[in-house]
Amino acid sequence: MTFLRWAGSKKQIKETLSHCWHAAQTAGGNGRYIEAFCGSASLFFHIKPSSALLVDINAELMECYEVVREDPSAVVALLQQYPVDQEFYYRLRATDELVLDPVERAARFIYLNRFCFNGLYRTNANGRFNVPYGAGRTGSVPSLEVLREASEILSNSELIHCDFELALSGAIKQGDFIYVDPPYAKRNHSLDFQYGPDEFGVGDLNRLFELLEMANDAGAFFVLSYADCDDVEEFSEKWGGYTVEVQRSIAADTSCRERTREVLISNL
Ligand SMILES: C[S@@+](CC[C@H](N)C(=O)[O-])C[C@H]1O[C@@H](n2cnc3c(N)ncnc32)[C@H](O)[C@@H]1O
Repeated sequence: MTFLRWAGSKKQIKETLSHCWHAAQTAGGNGRYIEAFCGSASLFFHIKPSSALLVDINAELMECYEVVREDPSAVVALLQQYPVDQEFYYRLRATDELVLDPVERAARFIYLNRFCFNGLYRTNANGRFNVPYGAGRTGSVPSLEVLREASEILSNSELIHCDFELALSGAIKQGDFIYVDPPYAKRNHSLDFQYGPDEFGVGDLNRLFELLEMANDAGAFFVLSYADCDDVEEFSEKWGGYTVEVQRSIAADTSCRERTREVLISNL
């Protein structure tokens, strides 16, 4: 199970997606799992592959995975010292993460992720995390048991912080399974700056389509999940799309959550 909350997390459709992983293994998969745009990596932590490459443009997120993999106990020891209240949340948020060591930065990242509004990761123009306190039923920080399990699942994974294309072109091999779940983008800007200043725009979708075509040529399997919208219609018609309903969090009040359609596009 993933230990992070993440806007757009694929927790709700992880069973459907894991069927794709199993189908790929039956069809000649080599057992390697690749996830660009990994966020909370809910499918990865569900499948627990023995070999993986995880990529996200969010540097703090990828460092957090590295630290949890190397030393889950040190992270939990710090988390247990942090009081759960609004005042401490804003104090920790205001701390300059660059003066912290990697374990302190990972603990800060997990704490803010746990208690922020709706599991959002949003930054201001200077790259500073600026999501308000969640004040909802967000649960407690992950236990030592949860982070130890995460550490074990991450133990054979390569973790890369950079743009998906830089990380993947040249890295894809025959039989790889590639799952991509980019942020939804509007025509000229993406929604709400949900993922920080290095945002994914509609123009980036074409780079992604080219990469997936290349992956297919290399004999890899891919699954793309995206909003069921015009921007992916042509690609979906070419490869075959399957629509699923998901619930999107749009407000703190759970009665204000809406159902929306996503499409899964795959060469499987
Ligand atoms: C919808 S979220 C992924 C959610 C994930 N599937 C999960 O289950 O939590 C999209 C992710 O893409 C990342 N991202 C945005 N632009 C990127 C880029 N150019 N290259 C790699 N990752 C990027 C964001 O940091 C964010 O974590």
